[in-house]
Amino acid sequence: MFDLSGKVALVTGASRGIGCGIAKTLAENGAHVVCVSRNVSDVQSVADKITAAGGTATAVACDISDSDNVSKLIKETVATHDHLDILVNNAGVTRDNLLMRMSEDDWNTVLNINLKAAFIAIKAAARTMIKQRNGRIINISSVVGLMGNAGQANYAASKAGLIGLTKSTARELASRGITANCIAPGYVATDMTNELGDEVQQSLIEQIPLGRMGQVEDIASAVAFLASDEAAYITGQTLAIDGGMVM
Ligand SMILES: NC(=O)c1ccc[n+]([C@@H]2O[C@H](COP(=O)([O-])OP(=O)(O)OC[C@H]3O[C@@H](n4cnc5c(N)ncnc54)[C@H](OP(=O)(O)O)[C@@H]3O)[C@@H](O)[C@H]2O)c1
Repeated sequence: MFDLSGKVALVTGASRGIGCGIAKTLAENGAHVVCVSRNVSDVQSVADKITAAGGTATAVACDISDSDNVSKLIKETVATHDHLDILVNNAGVTRDNLLMRMSEDDWNTVLNINLKAAFIAIKAAARTMIKQRNGRIINISSVVGLMGNAGQANYAASKAGLIGLTKSTARELASRGITANCIAPGYVATDMTNELGDEVQQSLIEQIPLGRMGQVEDIASAVAFLASDEAAYITGQTLAIDGGMVM
């Protein structure tokens, strides 16, 4: 357990999967969590579960593929809660295809949601974090951003881009007491990986030294650590949480 009491955290893509796990864990550690996704009823149900478990959370519907929505989201969060201490850029999508068949639309969709939205959110949140002289930015990348992956040129580029964005952010904002780090999950059991089917999942597990898919809690506990005071001297890093797949 880490002490995040009094902190306000915003988690994108909190309606299910890894983002839902992150939102719940940050709340269990005492943060007020602003849970964001497009689908208001899904994200409201996550916020309700957090509240029922004794935490505090708010649900906000926002499509982060639109930059204006992202800026407004951060502005309204700060206006409502007075501060913003932890920003988790987690929402992400895939539009897989081989390079030669990948449409420009699929490229743009993935880059807009996975990378550009994180840039806009960081830019808006940094304004407040600089004033506070304190902040934690945590971007959810992927091992695919480190390794590349056939059929995922758009996704891999977006996730590698997040690593570069994180390092530049870390360098620019370090003197203001703000840290920026990436987590690169391996294969985690969520809707995104369920789509792969049993056979592909089994062949992936064979490449994982620890012999299993990750669980959302494996990622969420690392986010809670990076968000805590205990991680104050860690910035610009990418932590692979992948059962040893990339080492
Ligand atoms: N699962 C894995 O194995 C794995 C591995 C490496 C990295 N990751 C990364 O971890 C993150 C979470 O993955 P996941 O597996 O939990 O994905 P998921 O189950 O598909 O959930 C994606 C989340 O993002 C939200 N979202 C999607 N498009 C959005 C948009 N335009 N605006 C706002 N919210 C949006 C979704 O909610 P709505 O549909 O309601 O908007 C949902 O809450 C992603 O960045 C993913 O790339 C996952």
